[in-house]
Amino acid sequence: MIIPSALEALLARYSVGPKHLVEPGPSDAQLALMVQAALRAPDHAELVPYRFKLVRGDAKQGMAILFSNAARDAGKGEEGAALDAERALRPPMTVAVVARIDLGHPQVPAHEQWAAVGGAISNFLTAAHLLGFGGKMLSGAKVRNPTIAAAFCEPGETLLGWIALGTPMRKPAGLARKPHPGQVLIDWHPPCK
Ligand SMILES: Cc1cc2nc3c(=O)[nH]c(=O)nc-3n(C[C@H](O)[C@H](O)[C@H](O)COP(=O)(O)O)c2cc1C
Repeated sequence: MIIPSALEALLARYSVGPKHLVEPGPSDAQLALMVQAALRAPDHAELVPYRFKLVRGDAKQGMAILFSNAARDAGKGEEGAALDAERALRPPMTVAVVARIDLGHPQVPAHEQWAAVGGAISNFLTAAHLLGFGGKMLSGAKVRNPTIAAAFCEPGETLLGWIALGTPMRKPAGLARKPHPGQVLIDWHPPCK
């Protein structure tokens, strides 16, 4: 079987956490390609139930302050607060993923809209990988911090988390183990009458 090179690259995708990311981050043109890829994900009724909010440049400092304050609110000491600030400052850029779920949509239930958000994140990260960048989707208790949520969300939006983005410092020694495809792909049979 011939495996297309794009699929080979996809099969080698891995997440790269903030502490392993360095400059440069993607250019505006590369970011636009990543968003175009996100928009290619399945999306019932084309609701586009998400927004990507880019944190770069001076905005990183503002996010670091929010993160360290949230750490203190959560009872972490100064060391923990500094670690959380570093998570905001270290990656060249961060993309906050915000969902816009229409709970009253007549045709598309909330779970289908969340599926569209997941597909968009996945395509965004895959495009970043194919362009030579590293990234990782992260959330944690911070997303539920009211001050942080209010800073990223408009009314009706939910903060899902952040994608740290940049150039990977090095390749990983190996890829994370995944289940065998046979555990996931299962022949279905109709129930016996
Ligand atoms: C919405 C969402 C939130 C996540 N939050 C975290 C997180 O806070 N911390 C973490 O280590 N991984 C988190 N992950 C998982 C990582 O992004 C990543 O998928 C996982 O580490 C597997 O690595 P891989 O992509 O290299 O297989 C999250 C994934 C998703 C989809």
